Amino acid sequence: MDKYAVFGNPIEHSKSPAIHTKFATSLGEQIDYRAILAPIDGFQKSVNAFFVQGGLGANVTMPFKEQAFELVDVRTELATIVGAVNTIKILDDGRLLGDNTDGIGFVNDLLENKVAIKDKRILLIGAGGAARGVILPLLAQQPNEIIIVNRTAAKANTLAELFSKYGKVTGYGFDDLPESDYSLIVNSTSSSVHNELPGLDKKYLNHCECVYDMFYSLEKTLFMQWALDYNAPIKALDGSGMLVGQAAQAYFVWRNKMPEILPVVKALKAGELK
Ligand code: ATR
Repeated sequence: MDKYAVFGNPIEHSKSPAIHTKFATSLGEQIDYRAILAPIDGFQKSVNAFFVQGGLGANVTMPFKEQAFELVDVRTELATIVGAVNTIKILDDGRLLGDNTDGIGFVNDLLENKVAIKDKRILLIGAGGAARGVILPLLAQQPNEIIIVNRTAAKANTLAELFSKYGKVTGYGFDDLPESDYSLIVNSTSSSVHNELPGLDKKYLNHCECVYDMFYSLEKTLFMQWALDYNAPIKALDGSGMLVGQAAQAYFVWRNKMPEILPVVKALKAGELK
């Protein structure tokens, strides 16, 4: 059977094996997809052993996405710009190709949920790896502007500068963030992991139609609840669709078939994917 795996540390709670197995079943295919715990100092060895033993593709999660970027032989343009790899595919000549499907998964989830991006002003909270991964796929949807706001303002500025040659992207700290008509506000910080709010003032929700927390959660996250408490008509999404969307794009990279995303998001939300 065709072999795939996800590498991370920790990895025991990964939903990727269940998601990919469901994709395969829905497409009438059979794959062997496992979660592999790579030692913190042994990621490269672990991945190389997997491909030597016949593995066809791998996903990479925390904390190895930058190491995966270094490990592969060739990279897609998107992975190169993002500087991180979450999907590896072995090519016919044995070289490893690195891609990054996180941002495409995110944007596909927005589109699937009918969240308007074109000509809109998007506020992106956070300037870490998660933010970096979504900026180009967001720009491809032609928003009016992407505004990055981060606790450490300098990081928001650096990220904005990096992407400013691809579209209108600006960076701020929370103190000098201008009030504007942000229709989509995205939390890419790791604040939800610690059940904290990222530190945005409620006044920025005034024109907001949708908040998106990249954190995957069966319950509403604190950030989602914070927005809903302010203004109930706001649509609030968590990262489930992004999680399934990035996986679907990885499946496509490996097998050239695009699985349906929504049924798998529903199963994930219903707690059916163990
Ligand atoms: P990731 O790869 O998940 O994005 P990261 O690169 O460590 O992780 O970045 C974490 C992001 O979350 C950063 O933007 C961080 O802000 P700083 O750059 O100021 O550190 C942000 N972050 C983490 N915890 C936060 C909190 N409690 N409130 C606000 N921002 C937070």
